[in-house]
Amino acid sequence: MKSIALATLTTASLMASSLVETATNAGLSPIPESKTELYKLIDNPKNPITDEKVELGKKLFFDPRLSKSGLISCNFCHNLSEGGEDGVRAAVGHKWTTNPHNLNSPTVYNAVFADSQFWDGRDPDLEKQAQGPIQAAPEMAATKEHVVKTVNSMPEYVKAFKKAYGKNVKINFVKITDTIASFERTLVTPSRFDDFMNGCWGAMSQAEKKGMQTFIDKGCATCHNGVALGGSMQPFGITAKYKYAKGDFKGDKNGLVKVPTLRNLSSTAPYFHNGGTYSLKAAVIEMGRIQLGMKINDKDASSIVTFLKALDGRKPHLLVPMLPASTNTTPKPDIN
Ligand code: HEC
Ligand code: HEC
Repeated sequence: MKSIALATLTTASLMASSLVETATNAGLSPIPESKTELYKLIDNPKNPITDEKVELGKKLFFDPRLSKSGLISCNFCHNLSEGGEDGVRAAVGHKWTTNPHNLNSPTVYNAVFADSQFWDGRDPDLEKQAQGPIQAAPEMAATKEHVVKTVNSMPEYVKAFKKAYGKNVKINFVKITDTIASFERTLVTPSRFDDFMNGCWGAMSQAEKKGMQTFIDKGCATCHNGVALGGSMQPFGITAKYKYAKGDFKGDKNGLVKVPTLRNLSSTAPYFHNGGTYSLKAAVIEMGRIQLGMKINDKDASSIVTFLKALDGRKPHLLVPMLPASTNTTPKPDIN
């Protein structure tokens, strides 16, 4: 009896280790377990992560007063309680304006693992990226001066900047956006997929492992790979025309589109650059048709979806930050 049980166990772990090997060869990588290894991936030597910056960056991420209207924070569109995005097809910002290119808000969770930022990959990192939305007219519609004046008007913010950067710090626009980026760098969500890849064979069910094998066999990992299972620039609509086309987005100058991360898909619908569908299974089938030139049947699509759910991660424990009170010199909200 005992030896049979042992033999079964050994076969199961052999199968698991060979699946890990297959996945590794296909380019899939886990979020490392060790904090040191993780920091090698998420830190930016030009803007090193510190506890003080992360704490302050979190406040700024949640502070709607950085926007012209005083109503729209980063969290408005990248809702950290809701998968790091907003759940609507195209983002809605200042004066209820829809994104002019019909673009869907990507999640900020695990964005740090991508090679570049935005659907057309136009910014190299989170530091540069954070400068965009604050000033974009359909998003937060603020000027640099508005942002700098707002932050400097509150002694509690000034004190926190001094604590983070030293007492001679000049609180300018770039310091503010760099600090937001430090916070975003910590928004990583280890999942059962990572536990499995890191050697905990029982972390994924048989059905999820089967789905992972199907995902690899169909060729999904040729683009959805690395720690993000995405993050590079790839052609889109290779073997057929995208069926949910709406809006004028055409990718970067070479027609390439940023491959979205496949982490936390359960809470990031709708999918694709214009939020074309709310159904994950439909998204998987569409990928097969337009990226791989194959018909993925219902059974295989369901199996892949089962695997994708194993990528739903454990979110960082965030306390809702209490923001400094406005003062007489804090710019007043302007909703026009
Ligand atoms: C009005 C909604 C809205 C607001 C407010 C907003 N964003 Fe975004 N964000 C978007 C949209 C839409 C995109 C994609 C735009 C594109 O690709 O051109 C995006 C893209 C991003 C990305 C790139 C993610 C990726 O996978 O490429 C990051 C990071 C990000 N925003 C962070 C922020 C930060 C930080 C703030 C606050 C300073 C902010 N956003 C405010 C809607 C918003
Ligand atoms: C040739 C590269 C490539 C291949 C192969 C590929 N994808 Fe994609 N995938 C992309 C790109 C690029 C996008 C973003 C397209 C857009 O929205 O414009 C995307 C988007 C997605 C999305 C939407 C995610 C979101 O948050 O919006 C899902 C889900 C997805 N892919 C799953 C799969 C699956 C499952 C397979 C295998 C059947 C697959 N992909 C094969 C490149 C690829």
